[in-house]
Amino acid sequence: MRLDRGSTFDVVLSRRALITGGLAAAVFVPARAGGGGDAESSSFGFEPVAHSRVDRLRVPTGYTYDCLIRWGDAVRPGAPEFDPRAQTPGGQALQFGYNCDFIAYLPLPAGSRSSERGLLVVNHEYTTSELMFPDWTGALDRKTRSMVDIELAAHGVSVIAVQRGAGGRWTVLPDSPYNRRVTAETPVEISGPAAGSAWLRTGADPTGTRGLGTLNNCSGGVTPWGTVLTCEENFDRYFAGPIDAVADPGVKAIHARYGLRDSYGWARYHPRFSVAVEPHEPLRFGWVVEVDPYDPQSTPVKRTALGRFKREAATTVIAPDGRAVVYSGDDGRFEYLYKFVSSGRYAPGERTANKALLDSGTLHVARFSEDGTGVWIPLVAGVEPLVARTGFPSPAHVLINARTAADLVGATKMDRPEDVEAHPGTGRVYAVLTNNRERRADQVDRANPRAQNRYGHILELIAEDGDHAAVRFRWDVFIACGDPRVPEHRASYQGHRGPGWLATPDSIAFDAAGRLWIATDGQDETIDANDGLYAVETAGPGRGMVRQFLSGPVGCEICGPAFTPDSTTLFVAIQHPGEMKDSTFAHPASRWPDERVDMPPRPAVVAIRRTGGGVIGT
Ligand code: FEO
Ligand code: CA
Ligand code: CA
Repeated sequence: MRLDRGSTFDVVLSRRALITGGLAAAVFVPARAGGGGDAESSSFGFEPVAHSRVDRLRVPTGYTYDCLIRWGDAVRPGAPEFDPRAQTPGGQALQFGYNCDFIAYLPLPAGSRSSERGLLVVNHEYTTSELMFPDWTGALDRKTRSMVDIELAAHGVSVIAVQRGAGGRWTVLPDSPYNRRVTAETPVEISGPAAGSAWLRTGADPTGTRGLGTLNNCSGGVTPWGTVLTCEENFDRYFAGPIDAVADPGVKAIHARYGLRDSYGWARYHPRFSVAVEPHEPLRFGWVVEVDPYDPQSTPVKRTALGRFKREAATTVIAPDGRAVVYSGDDGRFEYLYKFVSSGRYAPGERTANKALLDSGTLHVARFSEDGTGVWIPLVAGVEPLVARTGFPSPAHVLINARTAADLVGATKMDRPEDVEAHPGTGRVYAVLTNNRERRADQVDRANPRAQNRYGHILELIAEDGDHAAVRFRWDVFIACGDPRVPEHRASYQGHRGPGWLATPDSIAFDAAGRLWIATDGQDETIDANDGLYAVETAGPGRGMVRQFLSGPVGCEICGPAFTPDSTTLFVAIQHPGEMKDSTFAHPASRWPDERVDMPPRPAVVAIRRTGGGVIGT
C-alpha cells in the first residue's frame, strides 16, 4: 500500500541536489586566513552555552525543547504503556527502540516542504543492558531469553509521524498509518551485485537474498527521491566466535579483517549469531539499508553495491550528469572514506527507478596526498590488484570484503571516519574524523596530522569542477578540534580562538542557510565536558568559528541533528544518557529525561525551537 506518491518530493529535493553538484564552483566563498573570533563576524545570534558536567539538557537563552519521544513510548497502536519492570519483546516491538542516533525529517505530505508535519525516521543503534533491565547481572551467560528478545526488538529503526501544534509544540501522531518499527528480526531484502552470492547464503536463506533485520544503525541519510539510507556500523559486536570455527579460509580471513566479538550474548537463543553455526551471517550485515518511510508496507533493502564495512553514514548528492553519489565513512581506527557512484542517472519523479540507482555502480575509496590533492580509487573486480589471485574474482568479493580491497589499492588510513555531509550551496564535502589515540608519530600524514589524535578533526573536500562523480578533488583540514588556547592540543579553527571549541566530532548536519552543526560523541572522556552540539559557518568571516548550542545530560552522546526545511525546528537525539562506568538500572548516573526515582534514563528525541518562534541559530 502506498500512502503518498513521491513525485513532487523528487522535484523539490532534486533542485537542491543539482545545485549541490552543478553550481558548486560558481558559489565558493574563499577561505579566510586568520581571524580574531569577534562576535560581529558571525551570523549566529545566540548566546553560547558553556561546557558543562551538569546532568541537564541545556540550550541557549530564548530556546526551549519538547521531549518528543523516549525509549518505550508507543510507536504502533496497541503498544503497552512503558513499564521498565515489566518489559516484553512484543511490547518493545511496538515501542520506540533504544539508543536513538540518526534522525531524518521527511515532510508530509510527500512532495511538500512542510515544516509543520512530517515523518521522523530514527535509528536505534544499540542497547545498554545495564540501564535497561532491573535484574541484569552483568554476565552474558545469565541474560534471559526475554532480555535478548527485548534487545533485538529495541534495535533497528522507528518511523513516526509528527506534527507541530499550538505554541509550536511538537507531538507524535499516535494513530498514523506511517508509524513503523523495523527491528533486528524484520524481513529485509538483499539486492545488488552481491545478492545471492555463496557467501551471503545461510541455512535459513539458501538464496542469499533475504535477511532478518538490521543492526547497529548509526547514522544515515535522506535520498533525493525521498527514502532513507540507514547504515549498519558495529555489526561485529553481535556474533559469537571463535573465528577459527569457520572452515572457509576466505570467510575466516574476512571475519578476521572486520573483527567479531560477542557483546550481547544473543547466540544462545538465536543460533544465527554464532559463526560456528552460521559462518556467513555476519556477512549479511555492514550494509546500507534503504527504507521507504512513505510506504509502511515496503521491505527494507540492503544495497550491496555500496559495499560492506562498519558504515557510519550515507549522504547522497546528484552529480551534474545525473549520477547519484553516496559518501560514507567506515568508523574504525585506520579505516577509510568511501564514495559510491551510480551507473544510472537520477530522474526526477521516477521514484521506483531512482531506488534502483543504488543497485549498480562503482565503489571508490579515498587517497589523500600531501600536496592537498586527492583521488577516488575505484574498487573494481578484475582490475589489478583486485583480481582472482588476490581474492577478488568477482564484484561480490570486492563488495563483501571492501576493507581488504581498500587495503590493496593503497587508500589513506584515517582517524575513524564518521559522518560526511555536502554543503547544500557550495558542494564542498565535510568528512568528520572523530579521533584516533592509536596513531603513532610515524603514522602521521597531512590528512591525519596529529599523533594520538584525541580531539578529532574535520576535512573539507572540493570535487574537481564541482562534480561529485569526479575522480579528483582538493582538500584541506577545515577544523582541528581541541582547545585553541592550549598549544599542545594543536587545535585550529581557521584562526579563530573562540567563542567555543569542541572535541570528538561525530554527527553533522547543515541548516537551511548552509551553516554546519556538529554533534559530539566522547567529550566526557576527553575534555571533561558532557557531549554537546556546536554551530559553525563554513564561509564568510565566521568560517571556522565555533559556538556551543547545546550541552547534553551526563553520559549521553548527541546525535541526529535534523532541521525542518525552514530551520525553525531542530530535532536532536540524546543517545545513552547515564551510560558511564558503574552506572546501573538501580543506580544510574542520570535519570534524564523523566527525573523520577522509579525511572531509568531513557534515550529520547527532542524538538528544539525558539520560544518566540523563528529560525534556529540566528
Ligand atoms: Fe555510531 Fe561511529 O558512531
Ligand atoms: Ca556516529
Ligand atoms: Ca561515534
